[in-house]
Amino acid sequence: MNDARDGLRDVGDSSASSLAPSVFLVKVERGVMKNNNYVVRDPSTAQAVLVDPAWEIETLQETLERTQSHLSGILVTHTHSDHIDLARPLAEFYNCPIWMSREEAAFSGFQSRHLIAIDERPWRVGAMRIEPILTPGHTPGCVCFLIGDNLFTGDVLFAEGCGICFELDEAHAMYDSLQMLKTRVPADTHVFPGHTYIRPPGQKLGDIMRYNIYLQFTDRDSFAAYRLRKGQGGPKVLDFR
Ligand SMILES: [Fe+2]
Repeated sequence: MNDARDGLRDVGDSSASSLAPSVFLVKVERGVMKNNNYVVRDPSTAQAVLVDPAWEIETLQETLERTQSHLSGILVTHTHSDHIDLARPLAEFYNCPIWMSREEAAFSGFQSRHLIAIDERPWRVGAMRIEPILTPGHTPGCVCFLIGDNLFTGDVLFAEGCGICFELDEAHAMYDSLQMLKTRVPADTHVFPGHTYIRPPGQKLGDIMRYNIYLQFTDRDSFAAYRLRKGQGGPKVLDFR
C-alpha cells in the first residue's frame, strides 16, 4: 500500500475500468492520532473530491497537484474534528462546496458559506456519481459516500470494527446502519474507512462482513451491549472551530 508520502498511486481496484474513479490515500497525523484522507478523482475530467480533510493542508495540496486533480468539493462523513479540521480552509482556498448531511449540519451547528446540506439524493462530479448513504450512530448525521465501487465510511465502519457509541440509542442506530450497509451496498465494494488498524484501506465489504465482529450480530440489543461494553471510551470530540 503506497500513499502520498512513499510514492503516490491509485489504491483502487487495478482491474477496474480506466474510466472508474481513482482513489488516492493520504495518511495524515496529529500527535498519536492517524487518519486516512482520500482524493477521489474522475479520470475523464480531472475533477476530484476530498474526503474528510484534516491536519496536513500542505500534504493534501501536494497530493492534488501530483495527481493533477481539480478540487471540486469536500465530502464530510461527520463533524468530529479529525474529519473536518481542514474543510473550511480548503473550501475557502479552492472556492468549492462542503457536502455534509442535513442531520449532521443541524446537530453540529457547523456553518460555512460553502456548506451544502445533503439528503440521500446522488449528484455528479465530472463523470463520478456520488451517492450519500445516511448511517447514523457514531453521530446523528454520519453519512457514507458510495462513488463507483468505493465506499467511504469515515468512523461508521472500519475493516476490523465500527465507530464508538456512547448511548443506547446511538448503538441501536449504529446497528441499523451497519445492517443496512450489508444489504444495500454490493459485497465487492471497496471500503475506505477514516482510520486503519490492521488491514489496509480498500478491503471488500464481503470480506469485512466475514471477519468484522460488529457485522455478526443479529439483534440490536446484543450489538448494543457489546458496543457499549466497558473499556471502549475515548473522547467525544466535536470541535470544528
Ligand atoms: Fe468520529
